[in-house]
Amino acid sequence: MDILISAPPTSVEDHSAQLDSTQYTRESILKYEKIFGHNFISTGGIDTTREIVKSLNLQAGMKVLDVGSGIGGSAFHMAQEYGAHVHGLDLSHNMLGIAQERLQELNLNSHVIFEFGDILESAADSIYDVAYSRDAFLHIEDKARLFETLHRAIKPGGLLFFTDYCWGEGAHSVEFLEYVAQRGYDLHTVRDYGKLIEQAGFVEVHAMDKTELFGEYLHIELDKLPKDGSMPEIRKSWNEKIVRNQRGEQGWGWFMARKM
Ligand SMILES: C[S@@+](CC[C@H](N)C(=O)[O-])C[C@H]1O[C@@H](n2cnc3c(N)ncnc32)[C@H](O)[C@@H]1O
Repeated sequence: MDILISAPPTSVEDHSAQLDSTQYTRESILKYEKIFGHNFISTGGIDTTREIVKSLNLQAGMKVLDVGSGIGGSAFHMAQEYGAHVHGLDLSHNMLGIAQERLQELNLNSHVIFEFGDILESAADSIYDVAYSRDAFLHIEDKARLFETLHRAIKPGGLLFFTDYCWGEGAHSVEFLEYVAQRGYDLHTVRDYGKLIEQAGFVEVHAMDKTELFGEYLHIELDKLPKDGSMPEIRKSWNEKIVRNQRGEQGWGWFMARKM
C-alpha cells in the first residue's frame, strides 16, 4: 500500500503555512478545543496541566518558555496560579491569533507574551528558568537541534518539561505509519526520547511512559463530543487512536530533565 507523505516544508514560513492550512485551520483548532477543553489543544487539558505544573516548583517572577504554546492554556495557568512570566512561542498564526484574543480577555499582558517563531531558530541563551512544551515536539524533525537549542535557552540549574506523542515499543501497523507520515510527525519511543535528552547534556532525566493515561483521556475526550453526529471526522480519528493505543502502538510520554 502507498504511504502518502506530505512534502517536507523548506522554510519557517512554509512550515507555518502548511500547519495553518491543514491541521491547524481556525475551524479545526476550535473543534479540537471542544475535546481538550477551554484554551487547550493537548491531552488532558487543564487537568494534566494542573498536575504537571504543580511539579515544576514555579515561583512568582520565574521565566518560562512555552514551546508551541497553542491557544495559551498552559501559559495562562502558570501566570494566574504562580505569577510566572511566560513567553509563548508558536509557528501557527491561527493558534497565535486565538491566543492573543484570549490574552486580552484575561488581561494577563503583564505576565504573558505570545510570539511567532520556530523554536529551532531561537538564539536564547541562559534566559529561562523552565522550558516547557505540550504535545508540540512531534512536529519537529531535528530533535538533536531542538534539545541543543533548549539546553542553551535554559539557565544553569533550570528545568525542561514536555509531553509528547510517542511510538509504542511494539511493531507498527501500516495504518499508523500512514497516519504519522501524512501528518508529517516525527515520533520516538519514550525510552529513545530519554536518550536524546541525555545526549543534549541534560541531567536527572526522567522519561515517564504515560501510554495508559493517554488511553484513559482518549475515552474521556470521546465522551465530550456532541451526541448529535456532528464532528464525525474527529470521532473517527479518536476511535482510531483508541485502537492504536490499546494495541500499544501509540504512546504518550512525559519528560523532565535539568540543565547542570
Ligand atoms: C498540539 S498543539 C499543542 C498546543 C499547546 N501546547 C497546548 O497544549 O494546547 C502543537 C503546537 O505546536 C506548534 N508548533 C509546531 N512546531 C513548532 C515549532 N517548530 N516551533 C514552535 N511551535 C511549533 C503548533 O503550531 C501548535 O500550536
